[in-house]
Amino acid sequence: MTRISVKVDGTTYEDEVEPRLLLIHYLRDRLGLTGTPIGCDTSNCGACTVDLDGETVKSCSVLTVQADGSEVTTVQGLASNGEWHPLQKAFHECHALQCGYCTPGMIMAARDLLRENPQPGADDVRHALEGNLCRCTGYQNIVRAVLAASGSPEASVASTASTTAAASAASGQEART
Ligand code: FES
Ligand code: FES
Repeated sequence: MTRISVKVDGTTYEDEVEPRLLLIHYLRDRLGLTGTPIGCDTSNCGACTVDLDGETVKSCSVLTVQADGSEVTTVQGLASNGEWHPLQKAFHECHALQCGYCTPGMIMAARDLLRENPQPGADDVRHALEGNLCRCTGYQNIVRAVLAASGSPEASVASTASTTAAASAASGQEART
């Protein structure tokens, strides 16, 4: 066993862990922070993404001992004073989820993008989220949500295109967007 000290979502934990324990299992099983899901356990889907000292990491590919002395933020640490993070609000308002399984990882990856590029375009968002898979293939609204959270001018364009496509689909016509 190895002794660690790690700050997670603002709380410091002192623990003894097995050297092989993955960070995702520490967060979920030891700390009970089940807001971060395990999607694949093979570093492919990004569902388990968390922030480790300012970098987004797939927590199923990080050993807990590697987080010793570090600060981890999960999706559960984003809200403050009872207020959702702007990305959480945007995902809710744009209905950027279907089953919601990928949502925590998408939000964490998008947060990293907006820190580096506060006014991204749709292509920037798609590029930033390419390591995160949505099995429901609901990507369009996810991109809309990230653009909306950023206040990007492309948000209204994406929203209009999406609405037009939905209206066309509802009327049985092919969308020309
Ligand atoms: S559970 Fe970590 S990348 Fe899928
Ligand atoms: S909303 Fe279901 S996996 Fe993305």
